[in-house]
Amino acid sequence: MNSEEGLKNWLREIQTKGFCYVDGCPATPEATQELLEKIAFIRHTHYGGFWDFTSDLSSKDTAYTSLALEAHTDTTYFSDPAGLQMFHLLSHTDGEGGTSLLVDGLRAARILEEEDYKAYKTLSRVKLFFHASGNDGISIQPSVAAPVLTHDHAWRYLLQVRWNNADRAAIDLPIEKVDEWYEAAAKFDKILKRKDMELWHQLVPGKPLIFDNWRVLHGRSAFTGKRRMCGGYINRDDFVSRFKMTNFGRDKVLESTVTG
Ligand SMILES: [Fe+2]
Repeated sequence: MNSEEGLKNWLREIQTKGFCYVDGCPATPEATQELLEKIAFIRHTHYGGFWDFTSDLSSKDTAYTSLALEAHTDTTYFSDPAGLQMFHLLSHTDGEGGTSLLVDGLRAARILEEEDYKAYKTLSRVKLFFHASGNDGISIQPSVAAPVLTHDHAWRYLLQVRWNNADRAAIDLPIEKVDEWYEAAAKFDKILKRKDMELWHQLVPGKPLIFDNWRVLHGRSAFTGKRRMCGGYINRDDFVSRFKMTNFGRDKVLESTVTG
C-alpha cells in the first residue's frame, strides 16, 4: 500500500470484485485512516468522518448495537449514497460472534432478471423514499426518490443497488399497485438470502475490509462481548476518479467518453 502499484491493484480489486481485504495493517485507528485516505478524503455524515466505535448506541442506529444485521447497503437515504465503506475490527474481548456477511447485489440482480424479468423491471422502475431519523435533530431523506436498482441512462447497465429494509420509507405508487412492488421485493430478498449468495468471514485485527456500497450488501451475525471497530466512507465519484487515474492514466481517462 506504500507503492502506486499496490494502490492501483487494490482499487482494481474493489472495482472488479466489489470488495477486498488488506493484510498487515496495524490495528490502530490512525493506520486505518491513513490507509483509507490513500483513496480519497473521507466522507463525513451525521455519524462523523472516520469512525472509531463500540456497540454503545451512541448513534441511534442498529449498527451501534450487538444485534444481527441482515444484508443491506448503507446510506440509502442520501441522494448520493456512500461509494465505499471500510471496516477494521480493532479488538473483540469477552465474547464471540459478529461474523461479517457480504452479498453481491449485482449478481443477485442478474439472477432476478433471469428468473423473473417482470420483478426485475418493477425494482428498476418503481421509485422509493428512504430516511434516517433516529438521532435528535436529524431526518435525512433523499431529494428525489430512487429505485432499488438504478441503471445508467445511456448505457443501460446496472449502476447501483439500494437495499435497506430498516431505512425504507414510502413507495411512489398508487396504493392498488403497491403489492406488485412488495412481491418483486420479496423475490429479490429471497435471492439475497440464498446460502450460495452469502459470503461469511470473521473480521480480525490487522485485516481491514473495504467494499463497494453501490454493489455489495453487508451484514453481520449477533455478537457478545465488546467490539471496537473503525472505518469510514469514501464518495463513489472520488473512488472512481482514483481508480481510473491509477489504472489507466490521465490521458486515457480524458480521451474516454465512458463515465462511472
Ligand atoms: Fe451497514
